[in-house]
Amino acid sequence: MTTNALIDKLNEALGWELRAINMYAHYAANVKGIHRLQLAPMFDGEATESLEHANIVRKSIVKLEGVPVTERNPHPITHTTNFSEMLQYSLETEAQAAAVYGEVMIQLEAAEDQDLKDAIEQIYLAELRSVEELRLLME
Ligand SMILES: [Fe+2]
Ligand SMILES: [Fe+2]
Repeated sequence: MTTNALIDKLNEALGWELRAINMYAHYAANVKGIHRLQLAPMFDGEATESLEHANIVRKSIVKLEGVPVTERNPHPITHTTNFSEMLQYSLETEAQAAAVYGEVMIQLEAAEDQDLKDAIEQIYLAELRSVEELRLLME
């Protein structure tokens, strides 16, 4: 695995985090009805977590002497005020993030930077937890 390919994959993850920040902030503002009580704080929390993940990934790219992307992944963010649709789109987003970080983890196997490996692994595990939480929420 070349460093360039690793930087490209980290940038892919960064693009998804930048999109997640927008999506969760949008849903936190737009969720309506009684579920707003619980879901607005949850979506705000996910937006904050995505911001933290983006910061870690961005700094990792700079450390590798790459240039972090500034644009979010272009996959559309669908407007809705329906909470179950929001949860469905959230699950899709978290599953996508988990898949991309899973690919980064494979590329990092040969890397020597243990700090980088540990940092990305923590994010990867957080995405897997989010996928599981959303699955349970939607039952
Ligand atoms: Fe994330
Ligand atoms: Fe996430």
